[in-house]
Amino acid sequence: MIYVLNGPNLRRLGTREPDVYGAETFADLTRLCEDTGRELGIEVEVRQTDDEATMIGWLHEAADHRIPVVLNPAAFTHYSYALRDAIAQRTAPLVEVHISNPAAREEFRHTSVVAGVATGTIAGFGLRSYVHALRAVAELVRG
Ligand code: DQA
Repeated sequence: MIYVLNGPNLRRLGTREPDVYGAETFADLTRLCEDTGRELGIEVEVRQTDDEATMIGWLHEAADHRIPVVLNPAAFTHYSYALRDAIAQRTAPLVEVHISNPAAREEFRHTSVVAGVATGTIAGFGLRSYVHALRAVAELVRG
């Protein structure tokens, strides 16, 4: 099992700033992740929340059960020390993903307060960022 956890505003993919995030919807993203999981032979569970407490609860759950995570923290990336502290408790690989390349965007997006406690970061490949992250996690888990 791998959790694919998505933070605020990501359920609005498709209508949200399509010039930045593309025309594909959250349902498309969910399908892409599930298809990738099938290819890899690993069950994938995709979730999204706009709520920081809910996201922290999911990260605790992943830590308690040694579940690897692909995480798009969305705007939490840039300011949530609470999320960082939850990720620091991880017991399995956790890959930070971004659809866009935050380093090429506004100054405030250049800082990730979570990157330092993630296994690694994949950004800038559109929805394919998730495919690369799932493959990376599968490789790490299999050793
Ligand atoms: C994002 C980048 C963040 O800066 C932004 O707040 C998001 C989406 C991305 O996937 O490109 O909501 O994480």
